[in-house]
Amino acid sequence: MAGFLPDDLENYISAHSESGGDVEKALRKETLDLGPSSGMMSGDSVGNFLKFIVKTNKCKRVLEIGTFTGYSALMLASELPEEGELITCDINSETSNIAKKYWAKSSHGEKIKLKLGPAIETMEMLTGKFDLIFIDADKNNYLNYYKKSKELLNEDGIIIIDNVLWSGRVLKPEDKQSISIDNFNKFVHKDKEFWNTIVPIRDGLMIATRR
Ligand SMILES: C[S@@+](CC[C@H](N)C(=O)[O-])C[C@H]1O[C@@H](n2cnc3c(N)ncnc32)[C@H](O)[C@@H]1O
Repeated sequence: MAGFLPDDLENYISAHSESGGDVEKALRKETLDLGPSSGMMSGDSVGNFLKFIVKTNKCKRVLEIGTFTGYSALMLASELPEEGELITCDINSETSNIAKKYWAKSSHGEKIKLKLGPAIETMEMLTGKFDLIFIDADKNNYLNYYKKSKELLNEDGIIIIDNVLWSGRVLKPEDKQSISIDNFNKFVHKDKEFWNTIVPIRDGLMIATRR
């Protein structure tokens, strides 16, 4: 994908990292067959990083903003304990149907609950706290999702936001989305309540947690 690591390096990383199970692989294949829109799916390296965070932080309850065809949801759910729960939000019922088809084939699918509708409305209705919140939808609303996520986060919880490097366009933000993501990055960095760092995995992951 343009703007990320060269394909041969991405392939090398995949070849030398944990690979997903058969269901994850089949889901990735069907998504790639969708054509250009498949670029919305997280890469293997993001999927593995999310799994690592769930595993090492012993997360039990996770919220995801942006389901698409369900790949990152499945990766997150696969490290949750039996009683764990992943709530994932999207507005697109067509891609969500692909997601549901593969979750049903996975032994981890029962941990996943899909909420169809604008994510901000879903977040307003949620109760209880989350150990991890992964934001990966609707870049112009990142700031609203971040502010709401802080309210929904456990004391030691972690917020991860994808695509914060926006293929490098944050260096010279000119279009609406690049300006919006750059402003978002500056806001999080200035947030006195939260510690943050940007990890250059694929298109950049912002990590934030309470100081
Ligand atoms: C980048 S994709 C998510 C990719 C997914 N996390 C993965 O790694 O496979 C973004 C998704 O956000 C959804 N979306 C866009 N606007 C939204 C909104 N206002 N509320 C909820 N979901 C939204 C889109 O339908 C799309 O499926």
